Amino acid sequence: MPPPRPRQSLPRHPTLAASTDPSRLILSQVISMSNQQSTTHFGYQEVAEEEKARHVAEVFDSVAQRYDLMNDLMSGGLHRLWKAFTLAKSGVRESWRVLDVAGGTGDLALAFARKLGSRGQVWLTDINHAMLVRGRDRLCNQGFIVPVAQCDAEKLPFPDDYFDCVTVAFGLRNMTHKDLALAEMRRVLRPGGRLLVLEFSQVWKPLAAAYDFYSFQVIPRLGQMIIHDEASYRYLAESIRMHPDQEALKLLMEQAGLEQVEYYNLALGVVALHRAFKF
Ligand SMILES: C[S@@+](CC[C@H](N)C(=O)[O-])C[C@H]1O[C@@H](n2cnc3c(N)ncnc32)[C@H](O)[C@@H]1O
Repeated sequence: MPPPRPRQSLPRHPTLAASTDPSRLILSQVISMSNQQSTTHFGYQEVAEEEKARHVAEVFDSVAQRYDLMNDLMSGGLHRLWKAFTLAKSGVRESWRVLDVAGGTGDLALAFARKLGSRGQVWLTDINHAMLVRGRDRLCNQGFIVPVAQCDAEKLPFPDDYFDCVTVAFGLRNMTHKDLALAEMRRVLRPGGRLLVLEFSQVWKPLAAAYDFYSFQVIPRLGQMIIHDEASYRYLAESIRMHPDQEALKLLMEQAGLEQVEYYNLALGVVALHRAFKF
């Protein structure tokens, strides 16, 4: 069974919290708000916001070399079908500009590059150098030279209204400010363009216990066996549990200004593909 989720309560200032003096109460609220704004989750741990990106970077630095092998082992190859489904739902045309955010070792970018003719363009981007280098080399070895940029999804270095399609597969979960990242992805989409978010989600309830066992007992051990890193794969399981479920992510996308948001459950909700438009 997974460890219980940490309680979400915030640290309280012992003397101020008990005060009835209005000025102290306001100060107490300010302190509480600043606490609220400055922490986030890294799996089940509560960490300072500015720390999360470093923790996430450590995970992907550690797993980059064997990331693709682990994906195949953990999902029994299913991640390939989920990515093929994402490509199919994009409705991609040959002349399109496509941006793959948090593209890592380049599965989706490669699939889009194969589909697009020489008139189109695929950008492979990621915040992590080790993952990006593997992705770039992989595409290169398959005969595709695509533009590559190391960048944070929360501050995309692209102009407004530029891309026909933006994708993010298994990346959003790791971002510190998902709302900012979604707003950035919307900003760089042209009116009529679409965003596809492929991410772990909430599994069908009757399967939850088996899925918990697999996530917390099997996957970290596999991580230990294959790359001697149990902690990164424990983070994977925890981060999935902390990620917004299907409806919550839909709401988050709507709040970022995206429209016609719909989602498809894959593998009984283990994963969901959300698709939305900018108008
Ligand atoms: C699980 S991997 C997914 C890689 C690839 N998209 C795939 O489907 O196989 C998550 C990726 O998100 C990247 N990432 C995490 N935070 C990010 C951020 N703020 N901006 C851009 N990429 C980020 C990580 O570096 C990592 O390569």
